[in-house]
Amino acid sequence: MLSIHDLTVEGTLRPVVTDNPAPVFGYYCESDKPNNKVVYASLDLDNGSHQEMTEKSDFVYAGKALEPFTPYKATLTVKDAQGETATATVSFETGRLATPWVGKPITDTTYSFTEKKVSPQVMTFHKSLDFAKKIVSAKLYATALGTYWINLNGKKVGPCYLAPGFTSYRYHLMYQTYDVKDLLQAHNDLVIHVAGGWAVGSFVFTRVNRQYAKRQCLLMELRVQYDDGSQEVIPSDTSFDVTTKGPYQMADIYDGETVDLAQDILALPYHKAGLEKVSIHPEIVADYSCPIVRNREMIPVILRKEAGKTLYDFKQNFSGIVTLRIHHAKKGQTIVVHHAEVLTKEGELNLSLLRSAKATLTIHCQDGDQEYAPEFTYMGFRYISVEGIAPEDVEVIGYHLTSDLPETGSFHCSNEMLNQLDHNIRWSARSNFMDIPTDCPQRDERMGWTGDVSIFGPTACYDFQMKRFLIKWLKDVRSEQLPTGGVPNTVPCHGYKFPATMPKMAVDFWGDAIVTVPYCLYLSYADKGMLERMYPAMMKYVNACKFWARIWGVGEYRYIWHTPSMLHFGDWVAPDIDKMSAWQKRSMYTATASLRRTTMLLSKIASYLGKNEDADRLIKYSDKVAKAYSDIFLDKETGKLKKQEFQTGYVLPIHFEMLTPEMRTKAIDNLVSLIEKNNYKIGTGFPGTPYILYALADNGHSDVAYKMLLNTEAPSWLYNVKVGGTTIWEKFDGQLADGTARPSTDGTGNMISFNHYALGSVGNFLYTRMAGVRILEPGYRRFLVKPVLGGGITSCETTTLTPNGPIHVAWKVEGKTFTLTVHVPMGTESVIGLPNGKEKVYPSGDVTETVSLA
Ligand code: BGC
Repeated sequence: MLSIHDLTVEGTLRPVVTDNPAPVFGYYCESDKPNNKVVYASLDLDNGSHQEMTEKSDFVYAGKALEPFTPYKATLTVKDAQGETATATVSFETGRLATPWVGKPITDTTYSFTEKKVSPQVMTFHKSLDFAKKIVSAKLYATALGTYWINLNGKKVGPCYLAPGFTSYRYHLMYQTYDVKDLLQAHNDLVIHVAGGWAVGSFVFTRVNRQYAKRQCLLMELRVQYDDGSQEVIPSDTSFDVTTKGPYQMADIYDGETVDLAQDILALPYHKAGLEKVSIHPEIVADYSCPIVRNREMIPVILRKEAGKTLYDFKQNFSGIVTLRIHHAKKGQTIVVHHAEVLTKEGELNLSLLRSAKATLTIHCQDGDQEYAPEFTYMGFRYISVEGIAPEDVEVIGYHLTSDLPETGSFHCSNEMLNQLDHNIRWSARSNFMDIPTDCPQRDERMGWTGDVSIFGPTACYDFQMKRFLIKWLKDVRSEQLPTGGVPNTVPCHGYKFPATMPKMAVDFWGDAIVTVPYCLYLSYADKGMLERMYPAMMKYVNACKFWARIWGVGEYRYIWHTPSMLHFGDWVAPDIDKMSAWQKRSMYTATASLRRTTMLLSKIASYLGKNEDADRLIKYSDKVAKAYSDIFLDKETGKLKKQEFQTGYVLPIHFEMLTPEMRTKAIDNLVSLIEKNNYKIGTGFPGTPYILYALADNGHSDVAYKMLLNTEAPSWLYNVKVGGTTIWEKFDGQLADGTARPSTDGTGNMISFNHYALGSVGNFLYTRMAGVRILEPGYRRFLVKPVLGGGITSCETTTLTPNGPIHVAWKVEGKTFTLTVHVPMGTESVIGLPNGKEKVYPSGDVTETVSLA
């Protein structure tokens, strides 16, 4: 039987409202017949458009122009090589498609704030709506500068948090569409709260505010259709009431919320809203994000009860919120909730690591039972303290908030510590996919650090469906690229000036995200359109890097990128040196290797796009950089790093193929002895960590790779697991064995997060080497399954959902027998590499191979 699965519109299974005039339809097929593939596919829209193709690929809509505000139904028909057919349908709706807004941006014109480092008062808008006719459809389109949530007749509208989402607001602002037909009555109270959020509130660790507007504003339109065929548009305008004296007394992404639950939102001191003159003019487009939602419920245990205070432990570090069901409260009673990732030696919440973020909820109660859930903040935490109420009188429920991304990969092996490591990687990923890829969810950052997602991307794409999420972020990366090619270290850049101090600057490994993220997306999802759109920006970045390398040197030094180290991050958080400036001093090595890597990847990308001249030119340049690294940094005789030996300094040239075969052998030997001297502990920072195990295992030292991977002494991956970590930390040795934070002495000012995915980039080694699934052709159209055995691991099982369907791999070693089973998705081909050195090619279907390890 042929069947169609996951028919998506614009890369998501959620109901879509899109402003893309050429939406993309994706799907995969499954068949019980082996060696099968799609030989015909057609897409029909109920507007009469028809498209066909003769192989399986996404459909980019190319039919009749789509009408705005219109629901459509699409029917996909596929036929396979055996003559079977299948059909599936999907509905979607168009948004405004550039229809001018009738609504105007409105604000509280009586309100202004000039205070620094804080967020503004929340604006609460109100409008009464009365309908005499029967409504057949009602759609509310809304956005804001600030973050908003809608309360219609006492109920929250929609499941999402922190709308309109986080974009580079100067360029892009998303609007959300809500179907409110079933919520509307004859008389309605529409209340919309707008907090400062990212656009107006205090953000980034310097706590700058008013980045995009001097105060919040709201833009909305309610479009109603009646059963008599007439239509009405109710826009945001000066008929709305507004006040800043509503239930929210404070709301800030980092600091939390202070609310007065005794306030009657219909009886606030409202006055008329005014029109706002907005000084930025972003393109306002239907939401193209994976919105932030409640992903799962987290139930805590009570750790300790004290007079007036209860300490709870969720047993899992995560990003999200707590909600409180409060019983028997008295008006005037105040409840305070603090959040923390770790405890101090005294058993109290360690709040110092949050730096300036207060991460506090303060709730002023009304009489009786009530429920409270924050809307304008989220925290990264495992522990909370609740003051001002006895535990018997309150139910505390945690909700993990994260972007709504399907989890597409799984991993399990015979070593429980590695399974826990994989668990920790997933939790740090989920905790940091918060509409943008962030660094951490707890302290005063939560920013779109480019370097972090650049190295974590491949692991993320194996475990989660990242396409829509990262394409959204890349849109901002492109817009924020500096005119000369550099990329801000955080996107959205959001007032975080570095490297704008040197406007032409490019920063290795961090800026590289503009090349590495599209490259890894392309390998995982084979989306050529995205690659084409990004290509000019990637080229511009690479040219900037070349420029910065060139101007500081002569001769072969023109290929050594050595701008002053304080402008780079170097071997960021390398545990073998406990000084930020020392990490940065390694930037000559990391930056030169980065230049090699980006030019090599861009050369590959150019070939994928048929730009062969570019490809050729780039690889020639790239090889010169590689040679310069070897000539200048390594001793010809011994292959040793001349100035200082450090793991990253060997890992990068080995993994990025920068050395001649002889030098490579020497460098590998040097790396191995450096690791042995270090008792198999890790010494790499962000740049080397994703690749060190590959540099070993792919070059005849899988034994060393496994010894490192399985090491439980700090610094190592499994030290974290040994001492009870539930997420990946920013530093390998960030926590002491007693669970408290290791005091930071590296000059970063208490920089230790316990929920940072970057060093979890080792996940990709688990999937591609231990489990053994490697991409040979973009989108896994051809893939290799070649497990790297070792470390006493006796079984391993993994799945990943590719654009052609799920790959499933399971292997086990029983005595001297190795058995491997692989599910090869329809339309793909797998090369299976066995421990006896044999390779076999299999078409789609189920494969089992057994070989003797004797
Ligand atoms: C962030 C990192 C980031 C780094 C850049 C930190 O404060 O949390 O993950 O990449 O700064 O150096």
